[in-house]
Amino acid sequence: MTVRPDDPAPHPHATAAEVEAAFEDTKLAQVLYHDWEAETYDDKWSISYDERCIEYARGRFDAAVGEADLPYERALELGCGTGFFLLNLMQSGIAKTGSVTDLSPGMVKVALRNAEHLGLDVDGRVADAETIPYDDDTFDLVVGHAVLHHIPDVEQSLRECLRVLKPGGRFVFAGEPTTVGNFYARNLGNITWKATTAITKLPFLRDWRRPQEELDESSRAAALEAVVDLHTFDPTQLEDMARSAGAVDVAAHTEEFAAALWGWPVRTFEAAVPDEKLTFGYRMAMYRAWLGLSWVDENVMSRVVPRQFFYNAMITGVKPAAGK
Ligand SMILES: C[S@@+](CC[C@H](N)C(=O)[O-])C[C@H]1O[C@@H](n2cnc3c(N)ncnc32)[C@H](O)[C@@H]1O
Repeated sequence: MTVRPDDPAPHPHATAAEVEAAFEDTKLAQVLYHDWEAETYDDKWSISYDERCIEYARGRFDAAVGEADLPYERALELGCGTGFFLLNLMQSGIAKTGSVTDLSPGMVKVALRNAEHLGLDVDGRVADAETIPYDDDTFDLVVGHAVLHHIPDVEQSLRECLRVLKPGGRFVFAGEPTTVGNFYARNLGNITWKATTAITKLPFLRDWRRPQEELDESSRAAALEAVVDLHTFDPTQLEDMARSAGAVDVAAHTEEFAAALWGWPVRTFEAAVPDEKLTFGYRMAMYRAWLGLSWVDENVMSRVVPRQFFYNAMITGVKPAAGK
């Protein structure tokens, strides 16, 4: 594990004054919010480094890129979080060596620890995706998952990706919310949260109610979430932005329609009730239902529903070969 001694240390316990300041400073909000959740992030989002998540990460890459000449020699991840995307892609054979970067020191620390446990050849550093601290023409592949919507100037970040990519190198970003998808996901989530926390006030459902301090903490986190979530995307606008940054072979793709309409209420319900109420059998049933609906989305909905109605957007593009 390569830890850079000059990188800032994780700061998981923000003071009230820092949280107050974060409402006016989106990058401070990113660091506080993501440092705070770094150590529990994998559990919260059911992230693992086994077949389930390897297949998921690889599925997103294949959906965005199609056929590719693998493995890439050297890959970079922006906004790596705990390493979910790049570490699982590397396990699936996408790249030989990797560099994980994130604005949150806590996330870089956990990502490097995860990489070490998996025996992957990965280094990492704290970095802002708008000013990537690597030389021009360094990487063969740049990836990111659920990060672009947090970056104030997305086009600047794509320009930076192209700068650090070698000519002919590719970037792939997945897991970005579409504008329409985000509208129905947020609303379904809010309705589910309000309904679940109201119904569990009934005396005979008290067992299903999480302690009030935990519910209050989730509401405070949700308030900060509104500060860190900066954008939603229309797939065509994403393509225009990537071209305007200088990329060629640009393509956006979207997925998850029925799966998102069903999945957001389920995920919100799960966050609103005590963990011990959700049995292994329940979780497996929900996962299988999500897989089934994803199949319906891929094989049926994608033929009849316009792409901007799907929840998840991904974008890929290539750095023009030298002289082009
Ligand atoms: C929603 S999390 C996703 C983490 C991980 N990629 C995943 O899919 O599990 C977004 C991550 O982007 C990071 N981030 C936010 N703004 C950033 C920026 N300007 N530069 C680099 N990372 C950033 C956050 O610290 C956080 O770890």
